[in-house]
Order: sequence, then structure tokens, then C-alpha cells
Amino acid sequence: MPTTLIITPPLDGVLCIRLNRPDALNALNTQLLAELADTLSDADNDDRVRAVVITGNARAFAAGADIKEMAERDLVGMLEDPRQHHWAAITRFRKPIIAAVNGYALGGGCELAMHADIIIAGESAQFGQPEINLGIMPGAGGTQRLLRAVGKSLATQMVLTGEPISARRALEAGLISEITQPELTLERAMAIATRIAAKAPLAVRLARESLHKAMDTDLATGLRFERHAFTLLAGTTDREEGIRAFQEKRPATFQGH
Ligand code: HXC
Repeated sequence: MPTTLIITPPLDGVLCIRLNRPDALNALNTQLLAELADTLSDADNDDRVRAVVITGNARAFAAGADIKEMAERDLVGMLEDPRQHHWAAITRFRKPIIAAVNGYALGGGCELAMHADIIIAGESAQFGQPEINLGIMPGAGGTQRLLRAVGKSLATQMVLTGEPISARRALEAGLISEITQPELTLERAMAIATRIAAKAPLAVRLARESLHKAMDTDLATGLRFERHAFTLLAGTTDREEGIRAFQEKRPATFQGH
């Protein structure tokens, strides 16, 4: 079976993954999710990778779970669905992900984009959770992450009507951080990823974990985590290097320890 991803080897610490099922608007079938989970798992253990960009094509980032595949699964099939393990593996990935979105980011496609730490979108991108039109509902974080990103009213409107929002609306609502011309989306995402990849990896990892805590714990727990992580970084060589480079008025070179 042909591969469903086009992977560009790490350049300046950034691995680029392009979803590649153009005939199905990059619908997320089991094979694609498995390949994505495996690629991220390998990247987690590869010191050359410090950030990842995930993108699609001009027409679609991804139009959701593969509906044809889903139609073949009954209740028991869904309970035993291997895709849930692939989603869990994607969630466990420890390095920053930037999503470069053009065209449709619908259903599981919108949920995949929301697994990214930062979303950059082209002007024509559309974000939506249309599962309700199929008599189902989001199942890979679409009710939880969307509500945290855009708030209750808009998330509820999107999930219960199934109607997508434009890139402009997504920017206003805080779902994405920047809009670009469609042909520049990937370039901009790569530039942001390259900047992050040049920072001290342990500081990036702990800052990212701390940001994630803000999504899933109360303030006091999050603040405690942040303080511990901040203190832990005092034990790193990269912190010494960062401070020394500042004092010597030169760029820092971080080693990851
Ligand atoms: C499988 C899909 C697909 C999908 C599109 N295609 N979306 N195949 N699963 N999710 C296929 C079409 O069948 C068609 O192939 C080809 O891609 C082009 O799509 P068209 O419909 O012809 O394109 P267009 O008219 O431009 O319409 C684009 C669209 C529409 C508005 C995005 O395709 C659409 O509504 N797609 C479904 C979107 C959706 O409901 N997503 C949520 C899925 S459920 P053929 O071979 O037929 O020509 C989900 C649950 C996640 O994501 C749960 C996670 C745990």
C-alpha cells in the first residue's frame, strides 16, 4: 500500500510531515494514523528533531476520519478500533508541533490540527466539526480542545450545527495564531518551528508541558508545576550557556543538556 505521508528529513531541527491522501482530501484512515503515530514516536527519540510541522495540501489539511472506513465498523468494531491507540500516541508526542493548515480541517482533521501546539492557517482554511451531520459527534478531542480554545458558545455552535468557521473567525477566536496567504503557510510554519528548534530543548520541553498543564489542571497545580520546572532548569548546561551568551553579547548554542 502506498505511504500516506511525505516526510522531509530533519532540516535545522525541523521534521516536516505532509499528509498525502489527496484523492480523499487527506481523510484520516487507519493506515495514515498509524504511520503518523509511528513517525512521531521515532521523532520523539531522534535528537535531530526538535520540532515538527504537519501540513496537508492546498485543498485540505484533512477532511476528517475516513468515513468509508468508519462505515464498516459497528459498536464492537469501534470499541476495538486501533485508531484510538494511534491518537493516543500522537497525544503523547513530547516535542512542539506546528500545524500548517490550508483548505478543509474538518472533524478528525480539525482535531488533528488541535493536537498541534501552534496552528498557522492560510486565508482559505476552514475549521469545523461536522460529525453531527453524520449522526455522530467528535471523538478525538473536538469537544474538549475546541471548547478550551474558543470558549463555550462558539464551540457549542460549531459542534451542534456542524458549520465550519473561516480562518479569520478562527484567528479572532484564538484557535489559530496567524493567517497567511495560502502559498506561504508552510513556509511561515517552518520558520516558527526553526526558531523553536534553535532554543534549549529541555527548556522547550518543560515550558510546553507547563503550558499543557494550564489546559488540564487548576491554577494552583499549574503554578506549582511551573515553579518546579523553572527550578529544574537551573541544573542544565544550556541555562549556563544561555546566560553566559547574553553576558558575552553573542548568540547561544544549546546542546540539549
Ligand atoms: C472519506 C472523504 C472524506 C472523509 C472527503 N472524502 N471527505 N472520504 N472520508 N472524511 C472524499 C470524497 O468521498 C471524495 O472521494 C473526495 O474525497 C473529494 O470529496 P468531495 O466531497 O467530492 O469534495 P467537495 O465536493 O469539494 O466537498 C468537500 C467536503 C466534503 C465539504 C470536505 O468532502 C465533506 O463533507 N467531507 C466529509 C467531511 C466530514 O464529515 N468530516 C468528518 C468525518 S467524521 P470520491 O472517491 O467519493 O470522489 C470524523 C470523526 C472523527 O472526522 C473521530 C475521531 C476519533
